[in-house]
Amino acid sequence: MKYEAISNSLFIKNRKKFMAAMKPKSLAVFNSNDIFTTGADTSLPFHQHRNIFYLSGVDQEESILVLFPEAQNKAHRELLFVKETNDHIAIWEGEKLNKVRATEVSGIASIHWLSDFDRLFRELMAEVQTVYLDTNEHYRQAVEMETREDRFIKKTKAKYPAHQWERSYPILEQLRGVKEAEEIDLIQKACAITNQGFRRILGFVKPGVMEYEIEAEFSHEFLRNRSRGFAYTPIIASGHNACVLHYIENNKSCKDGDMLLLDVGAEYANYSSDMTRTIPVNGKFTARQKAVYQAVQRVKDEATKLLVPGTMWDAYHLEVGKMMTAELLGLGLLDKADVQNESADWPAYKKYFMHGTSHHMGLDTHDYGALKTPMQSNMVYTVEPGIYIPAENLGIRLEDDVVIQDKGEPFNLMADIPVDVEEIEDLMNR
Ligand code: GLY
Ligand code: MN
Ligand code: MN
Repeated sequence: MKYEAISNSLFIKNRKKFMAAMKPKSLAVFNSNDIFTTGADTSLPFHQHRNIFYLSGVDQEESILVLFPEAQNKAHRELLFVKETNDHIAIWEGEKLNKVRATEVSGIASIHWLSDFDRLFRELMAEVQTVYLDTNEHYRQAVEMETREDRFIKKTKAKYPAHQWERSYPILEQLRGVKEAEEIDLIQKACAITNQGFRRILGFVKPGVMEYEIEAEFSHEFLRNRSRGFAYTPIIASGHNACVLHYIENNKSCKDGDMLLLDVGAEYANYSSDMTRTIPVNGKFTARQKAVYQAVQRVKDEATKLLVPGTMWDAYHLEVGKMMTAELLGLGLLDKADVQNESADWPAYKKYFMHGTSHHMGLDTHDYGALKTPMQSNMVYTVEPGIYIPAENLGIRLEDDVVIQDKGEPFNLMADIPVDVEEIEDLMNR
C-alpha cells in the first residue's frame, strides 16, 4: 500500500456502529474481493471490497471478517481470517499480514488463518439464528460477475438452510453515508492530490496536446503523492467529446478554440475524490464559452448552498432544475414556450443538463448513503451541474466535493482547486 497507516480507531468505531444495528442472536460476514485475472497468469492490481475495508482496514485478498456481538466466548465477538503467510510467499509477493500486523491494522484481537474458517464458522453458526449477508444493493450497481461474496453466500445458504438471513446493505448504506472525521481527512487528502494534478496540467495544456498526454500528467502527479491512481476512469474530453457523458477514450488531439472537460479524481487510501473542471485549450475563454461557463458556475454555487441538514434529495434536484432553467433562458438556449410546454417527467432544461447534480462520495466514488431521508451533517456529496451543447461542440461541467455541516453552508473540500475564469486563464498563461 502506498498510503500512510490509518489509525485502527476508525475501524473499531465503524464496527461498533454496525454491531449496534444488528438483531439479537445474529452474526455478520464480510469477504474480500477476488483478484481479477486478465489472462494466462496476469491479474489487475488488487482492489479491496469497500465494506470489509470500512469495518477492518484490512486491504488484502482472501480475508474474512465475522462480527458476532453476543458470542458467549468474548474472543468470538470480532474475528478476522487472513490467509496464512510464510517465507515462500514473502519472497515472491512481499509481506502479507501476519497475526500481529492484522491486529495492529484492524484493532481486532482474534486473528485466525483462513484455513480455520470452516471449522470455526460451524461453531459460531450453532449459536446464532440470523446471519447478515453482504449483498450489493447499491442503486447504481450493474454487476454481472459473481464475486467472492456471492460465492460465499451461495455456499453458506446451501450448508445452513434453516438459518435466517438478513441484509447488511441497509445498515451500511446508513453508516457509510455519514462520515467520521478521519474519513473526511482522507477524502480531503484525495482532493488535495487532485488539486496538485489539476494545477500541473494547467501549465501543460495547449493546442495540439493529446487527451492521453493530459491523462499521463495527472497520473504522474497522483502516483508521486501516494495515490494508487485514478479513483475512477478519467474523462478527458475536448470539444465535442465533452458532450459524450461517459467519454473515456481520451485519444483525440485538443484543438485551438475548443474547451476541454476534465472529470478526474485521485484516490487515496481507497477513498475517492471526484472533480470536474472545464478549461479553454488555448488558455483564453471566448465570450460565449465564458457565458456558459459562468452559468454553470452560478448553478454550482447556488446548488451547494442547499446541501444542508434537512434537505431532501428529490426536492433538491427540483430546485436545481429551476436554477438551471433560469440560466438556460438567460443564455437563449431555452425560450419561455419551451418551459411552459415542458413535461414534469422530462423538464425542458434536461435537453442541456441530463444527469443528476449530486451523489454521495467516499470509499466508492458513487458512495453508499441514504437518499430517501433528510440530509445530515458529515455526509459528503458532489455538486456537478453541466450544460452540454453538441451543436456548438461545447460541454461544460464543474464538480466539487462538499461536506454537509451542522450550521451554515457546506464545507467545500475543493475550495483550493482553481475554478474562476480569471484564475484559470492566469494559471494557463504563466
Ligand atoms: N466521475 C463520475 C461522476 O462524476 O459521477
Ligand atoms: Mn466526476
Ligand atoms: Mn460525480
